[in-house]
Amino acid sequence: MGNENKKAKKKRKGKSSGAAPTEVLGIDIGGTGMKAGVVDLVTGELVTERFRIPTPQPANPRNMAPVVAELVEHFGHRGLIGAAFPAIIKSGVVHSAANIDPKWLGTDAAALFGEAVGQEVVMLNDADAAGLAEVGFGAAKGVDGVVLVLTFGTGIGSGLFVDGELVPNTELGHLQLDGHADVEDWAAASARDREGLSWVEWAARVDRYLEHVCFLFSPDMVVIGGGASKSWPKFADRLEPRTTIVAATRRNNAGIIGAALYSLAQR
Ligand code: BGC
Repeated sequence: MGNENKKAKKKRKGKSSGAAPTEVLGIDIGGTGMKAGVVDLVTGELVTERFRIPTPQPANPRNMAPVVAELVEHFGHRGLIGAAFPAIIKSGVVHSAANIDPKWLGTDAAALFGEAVGQEVVMLNDADAAGLAEVGFGAAKGVDGVVLVLTFGTGIGSGLFVDGELVPNTELGHLQLDGHADVEDWAAASARDREGLSWVEWAARVDRYLEHVCFLFSPDMVVIGGGASKSWPKFADRLEPRTTIVAATRRNNAGIIGAALYSLAQR
């Protein structure tokens, strides 16, 4: 568990009065869409319709901040806000830019969005958020040991958990494998579309990738999330059962739910 998380936990435990809010706004920021919804943190369900705005292009800080404000305004939300972002995030600052505009590098996204919405926004990596949703309410609920949540979309995101605690910003989509300098360019869901691969062809790549990460981490469970998880039945039987490998249950809403959950933990 990272220091940030430890501190957050201490703070939460130390709070003896003031009931924790149960409805929190979660925002999932991606390269093609920015989505939000109000999450009930007792059930892990969205209590509103999801609202989505296409990500403006170029997807740089200047263009995206007003969209975050629009999402918050749509729900008229005041209170806790958590936002998931497709990059390394440390204390709200963006530390990588694999699939986003390089202008984000070094930007304090939490401060920028916070200023745009006039309220505090707590930020974390998108795959870490998806993982928190699966560990809190979904496929990995109550699973001890090492759980790896992998999201297959434009890139490959990873959320690593040890006995339910997040090890943030693992970035396992950027491993080198079989001569591929960046494995996500070869095995993300976007590679299937880009190269016109069949499900069988693409699943063989995912399986090779899983072989590698299972060798490195010996996970007790792997949860497959991201856009590709919607098509789970099309490729599930092509994956060797190296460990328990399951589909994410929160699918498209996992980022929103996990971001909401995280903002409460940081309170
Ligand atoms: C980014 C990660 C992100 C993943 C999924 C990768 O390219 O480096 O931070 O979690 O894509 O969006």
